[in-house]
Amino acid sequence: MNRVCHYRDGVLWLDDFRARDLAQQFQTPLYVYSEQTIIDRWLRFADAWPAPHRICYAVKANSHIAILQLMARLGAGFDIVSQGELERVLAAGAEPATVVFSGVAKSAEEIRRALSVGIGCFNVESQQELQRIEAIASDMGKVANVSIRINPNVDAGTHPYISTGLKTNKFGIDYELADAVFDYAAQSPTLNLQGIDCHIGSQITEPAPFLDAAKRMFAWVDKLAKRGIAISHLDLGGGFGVPYHDEAAFPTAEYLQGLLGLAKDYPQLTLMLEPGRSLVAEAGVLLTRVEYVKHSTEKRFAIVDAGMNDLLRPALYQAYHAILPEREEQQLGQVTDIVGPVCETGDFLAHARHLAVAPGDLIAVANAGAYGMSMSSNYNSRRRPAEVLLQGQQAKLITAREQYSQLWQREQLVYTMQSDEG
Ligand code: LLP
Repeated sequence: MNRVCHYRDGVLWLDDFRARDLAQQFQTPLYVYSEQTIIDRWLRFADAWPAPHRICYAVKANSHIAILQLMARLGAGFDIVSQGELERVLAAGAEPATVVFSGVAKSAEEIRRALSVGIGCFNVESQQELQRIEAIASDMGKVANVSIRINPNVDAGTHPYISTGLKTNKFGIDYELADAVFDYAAQSPTLNLQGIDCHIGSQITEPAPFLDAAKRMFAWVDKLAKRGIAISHLDLGGGFGVPYHDEAAFPTAEYLQGLLGLAKDYPQLTLMLEPGRSLVAEAGVLLTRVEYVKHSTEKRFAIVDAGMNDLLRPALYQAYHAILPEREEQQLGQVTDIVGPVCETGDFLAHARHLAVAPGDLIAVANAGAYGMSMSSNYNSRRRPAEVLLQGQQAKLITAREQYSQLWQREQLVYTMQSDEG
């Protein structure tokens, strides 16, 4: 069990708050984050990662502006994949120069905005994108810092939907086709070729595939140097796994030591990492309340007030999240599926857990701080949940629960309402 969720005298606490009190004060479904856990996870990296090396938090994991603000205070830069994420980072008061911009489909508008605020670097995913950035920068009279994303073709052994470093994935530039792209970038007066980058996938629990990819990247640095192309940074992406079930914790310090070992002959290189999940997943909990308990001949269901629109990971990846009932003794019960209110068979939070719960009882879905709220939707016209940040003895509401009228605030009726006619 992670630190944020634990039992004291048999009842569930989140940091220094009784889960029941938080649910009563803020209602459910509710995302709750522990500031201290985020700081602890940050320190696992920062303590083993001396300057000038950098950490750019992958905003997609949890893009709440308060969390971005916390990351900026801790000293993080940011890995973004859209203008929306850029605007969030700016709204959080972060320094644009600390931002790297990844993603395969950067639009002209996004590139222009990123250049005008002065982001640190574009992580370029194709020759076509490189030329688009060059044309826009030239038009604006600017020089764009670029890094070329190589697809290192390593199998990270993770879920196929979240593996990104294979030749068959859409990401990065094929290992064997990248030469021409480097040459192009190196000779352009409007492009400043700063680095190379890769990202091989997510929820990878062993350092070996990362070190494999890193070795291939260092080989690229050597190859470029031989051709007279000097680069100043190497960005090795994110993807570090967290223990959702019975996985061991990712050996962060050991991995970083391994990287620093590989880098010792390259004093000119700043190394960068883009962790998302590993900084925030364990800090978050989704609190939900049981509405009904229902039996079929085959199964027992606890139907709760949070669904796949609030936490999509189980439905999309069959992801496992630990389920913690409000009272510890409720962990010894019948085998139960925990399902949501959404009209889809795929709407479940967990399958086949031992749980003795009754309507009205609270359940915590653990390790929901990454790719939880950031992947939520309004499907079934459900309001997205509220969010609370626990800061020591304070529980701060950082996102109000959506209002019903907000569900259609951007929509227009097209016929005159009967009440408006004559
Ligand atoms: N950098 C790049 C270029 C990425 O594409 C990603 C994640 C990251 C960094 C951060 O990876 P992390 O450290 O969080 O593993 N929705 C999925 C995960 C998708 C990850 C996509 N890319 C999930 O809920 O498991």
